Order: sequence, then C-alpha cells, then structure tokens
Amino acid sequence: MCGIVGCTTHGAEVVGGLIESLKRLEYRGYDSAGIAAQTPTGIGIVRRVGKIRELESHLLTEPLHSSTAIGHTRWATHGRPTEANAHPHRCGKLVVVHNGIIENYLELRQELGDAVFQSETDTEVVAHLVAKLWNGDLAATVRLAVGRLEGSFALALMHEDMPDLIVAARRDSPLVIGVGDAAHWLASDVPALLPWTRRVIYLEDGDVAELRPDTLRVTDTSGKVQQRDIVEISWSAEMAEKGGYAHFMLKEIHEQPTTVANALLGRIAEKSGLVTLEGLNIDDDTLRTLRRVSIVACGTSWHAAQVGRFLIEQDSGLPVEVDYASEAIYREPLLGRDDLLIAISQSGETADTRAALRRGREAGAHTLVICNVAGSSMARDSTNVLLTYAGPEIGVASTKAFMGQLTVLSLLALKLGAVRGRLTDDVMRQRLHELKTLPHAIEAALRTSDEARSIAGELAAARDALFIGRGVNYPIALEGALKLKEISYIHAEGYPAGEMKHGPIALIDAQMPVIAVATRSATYPIMAGNVEEARSRAARVIAVVSEGDDRVARAAWRTLVVPAVPENLSPLVNIVPLQLLAYWTAVARNADVDQPRNLAKTVTVQ
Ligand code: F6R
Repeated sequence: MCGIVGCTTHGAEVVGGLIESLKRLEYRGYDSAGIAAQTPTGIGIVRRVGKIRELESHLLTEPLHSSTAIGHTRWATHGRPTEANAHPHRCGKLVVVHNGIIENYLELRQELGDAVFQSETDTEVVAHLVAKLWNGDLAATVRLAVGRLEGSFALALMHEDMPDLIVAARRDSPLVIGVGDAAHWLASDVPALLPWTRRVIYLEDGDVAELRPDTLRVTDTSGKVQQRDIVEISWSAEMAEKGGYAHFMLKEIHEQPTTVANALLGRIAEKSGLVTLEGLNIDDDTLRTLRRVSIVACGTSWHAAQVGRFLIEQDSGLPVEVDYASEAIYREPLLGRDDLLIAISQSGETADTRAALRRGREAGAHTLVICNVAGSSMARDSTNVLLTYAGPEIGVASTKAFMGQLTVLSLLALKLGAVRGRLTDDVMRQRLHELKTLPHAIEAALRTSDEARSIAGELAAARDALFIGRGVNYPIALEGALKLKEISYIHAEGYPAGEMKHGPIALIDAQMPVIAVATRSATYPIMAGNVEEARSRAARVIAVVSEGDDRVARAAWRTLVVPAVPENLSPLVNIVPLQLLAYWTAVARNADVDQPRNLAKTVTVQ
C-alpha cells in the first residue's frame, strides 16, 4: 500500500509536479507523505503527517528547488503514521521510498547491528542495508541489496553523490516509468504519470531501473540488461480527473453506462450470437471438459464473484464455488487440471488474491484473471486475462470497476453456456441483445440520484442499516451494505432475505432502516412478503423496485425505481441506486467520500 513517485530532468523544477502526481496516488494511502529532493547543498527531505495537502502547504512556505526528486504517500503498516515513520528514509547520503512489506526486516535489523534507526518502519532497513553494501555504484548496490530482501517491494532510491540519478526496483509491487522529453518519471500507477506523459514502461518483478534525464537502463538483479517496451496509454489525464463532479466516486458512478459499453466492445456479435473473449486462451474443448469453477477475490470483487457464480451456474451448468482469497490461501487448494480458477481483482495487485491465484496455478488448475489494470501484476502473471476496461478508478470505494467485472462475468457465463451446449444460438442472440441495451437501463437507473439524495438526508441519521436481497441480487445487498459502511461509516449488514427469520428480524424496529432489493424476478412474490414483514415491524423500508411495481412500493417507506431488465442482468442496474444512496449519505454526513478513513485502494499486503 502506499504510492511512490519520482522524476529526474534537466534544470526544471520537479517538486510541484511530484506533489501533483502524489495527489493522484493518494487513493493508495494518505496518512503521511514526503519528498526528498536533490539540491545544491545535498538531499533535502520534507515529511508531513496527514494528507498530501499538508505537505504541499509546507512546501509553499519552504520550497525545495530541485530537478531530481522522489516522493511518497503512506498507508501505515509497520509503525504508526508519524513524521518519523513517513517516507523518504535517510541513511547518510542515501534516501529511499518504499511500497510493500520487507518481511525479513527484523532479521536484517539485527544483522545491521550498530546502525541507528530513526523510525519503526520496515523500510528504513533498506537504506541501512544499501549503505552497508555500498560499492560506489547505486544501481549495483541496490541489486545486491534486493537479493537480501524478502517480501514485496517497489523501491526508489537516490544518493547525494549522483544528483541526477534515481534507482528503482520492484518485486510483487507495481512500478511504472514515464518516458518524457529529457525527463524520466516514476510512479506506482499510471494516473500519476498522465499529466506529464502517456508513454510508459511497466517494470517487471526483479527489474532494477536507472533513471537519468536522458537515459533509462533496466537490468535484472544479476545486472543483465532487460528490454522493456514503451506502452502508449490511451487514458487522457482528464479521464483521471473529476470532470466537473464533486467527487471521483460520483463521476465514476455516472461513467457506468460507458463502462458496460466498453466492456462489451468488440466482444459480442449479436447477429451470430457469438461471444469472443480475447485474452481467454483456453480452447473450447478444454472449456467443455471443465469440471468445476472456483472464484477467489476480496471485498467488492468478491461480491462480483458471487454474482458470477449465479450467472455461470445458470448459463453453463458448471458448479461454481466462491472463496475469499484471504481464506483460500490458508487451506489446501482442492483444485486440479479439470478446474478453472478465476481471480477477480480491480487493481490486479491485491496480495491475497494474487497468492490464491498462484496456489491455484501450482495445483494445476487453469487460471483466469479478471481485472481492470492491464499492466498490473496479476494481468502480467497470467496467460488468461479478461480486462474490464473501466478506465482509472480513483475513488477508493469501487463502483465502475465492479460494473466492469459484472459485465465481463456475464460474457464469460454466456461463452461457457454456448461452448458447453446449454445456450442455443437463438438464446445467445437474445441474451446479447439484452446485454447491448443495458447501458440505457443503467442510464435510467442513474436518474434515481435525486431521490437517493433525498432519502440520504434521513438515512444519514441512522446508526445501523440492513440490506436484503435474494438470488443474484443477494450479493447486491452485500455490496450495497459495503458501500454504505465504507464511505458513510454507518454500520450496515447484507443478508439473504430468506435468512431474516433466522435471526436478524430481531433487530428490526423503527430505528432500523431496511434496504430491500426487490425488482422483478422469480423470487419477487416472496421478496415482497419479506418487505411486508419488515414493514409490519415498523421498519422504514427503502426498496429498489422495477418500473410499474405496486406491491412492494405500497409497503415501502421510499422507493428507488429502476427499469425492468431480465433477472440475470438486474444486478448491474440495481447496484446503481445503492451506490448513489451510499454516496449521498456520506456527503450528508460530511465524510471524505473518495478517501474513507483507514482504507486504501490497492491492498498489496496480506
Ligand atoms: C470496496 C473495495 C474493496 C476492494 C477490495 C479488492 O469498495 O474497493 O473492497 O474491492 O480491496 O480489491 P481488488 O478488486 O483491487 O482486488
């Protein structure tokens, strides 16, 4: 967790630009931040607890003038969020910033014996280790040092005697180089580079890079030069900006019709009823003989996995199990060569999901990654990758990336259903047609925003909330509850509506809002019964209902009305008002919507 930036150029000031870049990485962590800059009198370091703006305002009064600098935004793992623990860390003429965890740092600290440590972090050990191994060549010494490190890291280092050099190294943590005119940039993620360049190089695990204004050299840890291609990024800097919305989250919620359209683009042929999934390199014969599908993911991606389970089972007849990646990795993976393990991750960097994927691969299963970041670790580690094409998601609470995942899972379910002979050509044509019209339905669902805002005015006063749903909309109840709790800090639970009578109904009274996903479906009548039960116990029921609904609407306190779509696609429509409800509730409570407390967008530690 944490974000790294760096830049080296000739003469021009870079510190202001690095602050700009750090702000674009704040989603990775925001409890403290710092900059180290080469100056004529040595390396100057400024660190501040709190968000980047604290660092920025300090630099306005006491500027650092430099054309080579590195910076960091932190999300504390080892050591509290204090100035001493903030990066960069210094050892003599060396400075370092780090993302990840050095697992053997205690061992190394012992080995470094008389070194004097200024912080409680695992990172500082890297500076001392490099200083101890110092051979006069920063890149060569870093290569030696990383051989001694266990765990995951993206590192950037500078040395006072080499004022235009930044050395970077990575293992299991993302690092991207931006190629500019007589400048090289460095960042943990592409959006931080977009104001400066669209030409990027994704470093691979084991790479050590030497950045100077005019040259870039990448080697492996043995010093062998590695060729890395420059990739042209199609996202504009504006795509990673708020585009007139008050928050990234609101902008990203409104981008969802486009998310679906992008995820479908080039993948469906409605007339022939065919789904083509570039990136899925498992041949049809193998797909036909699969015995089982297992899906691993965390958080919101785990909710997408639960929807995926429903879709894949219904369409293909394959049994599907869904596991939290963080649980799956501590059990024997009972997977074999007839199984397909799917890892879903928006970022493609989540440590637990990555580990679960690796274990599945080692157990001999076919593996497939569904993710949003083309250059991410998981995407690059896998032979089968389906990208969600949602574009950069900056709000920490995932919205459009979830929508992209649901779209890709819908396509995958159809593909498996067709290949395995469960869905006829006619059915495929019909289903693809329905999918294609989905962006319009999502557009219409976005029109619930005003109503969601008005309901949020009252929901904001609640202490708890209960979300209920059934079937393919049960995971949507879970996701609605997660969205509310993570950004508004109201305690919320998601439940399958049928479980209410087995315990949670005891909680219901006038103080407990019940949010029911009750759109048209095979279980609608029984769901309507559940809403009536909650209502008769004085609950204020907020119901997501289909256009034309009257039964649930009559029992509900307030409704959020969405277009009627086939049940299998309803999660993609029903989640929209719940995202908006969470958003407006957080706004009403004055919460920090895009950067909720204690959370980070990319969880690269277990
Ligand atoms: C919630 C949220 C998280 C992530 C989870 C997994 O809004 O964003 O629950 O879904 O941390 O992250 P990825 O999908 O990047 O693996």
